Amino acid sequence: MQECHFILLGATGDLAMRKIFPALFRASQAGLKPSICACAKSPLSTPEFLDKLNTRAQEYIKSLDPSAWEDFSANISYTPLDLTRLEDFKALQATHPNTIIYFSIAPEFFAKACQNLAAVGLNTPNIKIVLEKPLGTDLKSCQEICQEIGQHFKEEQIYRIDHYLGKQSVHNLFYLRHNNPFLAGLLGANYLDHVQVSVLETLGVESRGGFYDPMGALRDMLQNHMLQILALSTIPANIPIERTRQAKLEILKSLKPLSRAALKSQVVRGQYIAGGGLKGYTEEEQVNHNSQTETFVALKLELDHPSWQGVPFYLRTGKRMGISLVQVVFVFKGPPQALVYTIQPQCSLELQLQGMGALKSTLDSGMDAYERLILEVVAGNQAPFNHQDELEAAWSFVDPILQSWHENLTPLLPYTVGSFGPQAAFDLLHQDNREWFAHV
Ligand code: BG6
Repeated sequence: MQECHFILLGATGDLAMRKIFPALFRASQAGLKPSICACAKSPLSTPEFLDKLNTRAQEYIKSLDPSAWEDFSANISYTPLDLTRLEDFKALQATHPNTIIYFSIAPEFFAKACQNLAAVGLNTPNIKIVLEKPLGTDLKSCQEICQEIGQHFKEEQIYRIDHYLGKQSVHNLFYLRHNNPFLAGLLGANYLDHVQVSVLETLGVESRGGFYDPMGALRDMLQNHMLQILALSTIPANIPIERTRQAKLEILKSLKPLSRAALKSQVVRGQYIAGGGLKGYTEEEQVNHNSQTETFVALKLELDHPSWQGVPFYLRTGKRMGISLVQVVFVFKGPPQALVYTIQPQCSLELQLQGMGALKSTLDSGMDAYERLILEVVAGNQAPFNHQDELEAAWSFVDPILQSWHENLTPLLPYTVGSFGPQAAFDLLHQDNREWFAHV
């Protein structure tokens, strides 16, 4: 049994209830023994907090074993904490040799929380901090937050989460080419016509309108999850696993900035409107009725990288799409037609052969992403977490797009719930005589 002390900031929030507590519970069943100090602003007692948590646990943990849950929750206490009040931080204890402070809070509170933690001495080397994405809302805010955090915590104490990096199916992208040299040869500029990355969700913004509306699909999905998938799909095949962060950084730095003309013709933004009995985005709870926030984005980009010269990448992500699907499609110049790597809902690899249909293999999706990442933090392995430089490189690519939207260079296009985004997203490929792999 490995012991650790876990301080969870933002413990009453949606992410904590839906993902982090269930992951900690599963990790405890796999042998971790966490004592958990749950913190949030609400003035609750521990029994009151546990009441709330128990209800949500029934909802989010499949076939929950009541006695295992009781053992787990016996190690949870609740401390009311206002992130801006230094006084409140004095109640926290972090003497355990393996203490983890998880920031499941809005990024605008990261810097203040770090200052307060440091002011009460909670930045000693036994402490690791876990920061949820998105880190900032653009390059400047990301740098400011990172600089502030860096004044109080050393790089080896900081774990910047992108939960897609905890998915076995995403991690396998590394092994796809690394362990299969014949594929590594095929999946490069010599044979590939282009690559597609799709992250499609049937879900809307659910109860997260307050978080999502200032964010949008570009910041919420593309800047992080999608660029990480792209990076893992394109890093050189022969590098050792411990060098993946550096290799991903090289790819992210090689993203060719979009020219003004490309910003206009190669980027599509959309917003869902009511359909099939479901609300449109601007009718969702906590969303501004005149919101100009995009719930869909599609774009074409290239890498300025010796191995990927001339290979276009098409990325698209959207909420309230016709299907839920996370997929990378390597489309060849000639037969075989395509190698399709599906990350979700079921991890699989499919090779489409000319005149022979497809060879498909279903792969194990493995343990839950948050559980895996929590165990990696406990073990002190930073490899599946982002380095600050990766985030900055990703923001550097995304910033001009945000700016162009701010200037209304491209219109915000409506698409109906249950579709695959605005027509312009199809035209983006049609203009190059190409087609999205999954479409209606
Ligand atoms: C989160 C986004 O990072 O990822 C959500 O904030 C999105 O908007 C979610 O729904 C998707 O994650 P998954 O694991 O369900 O594909």
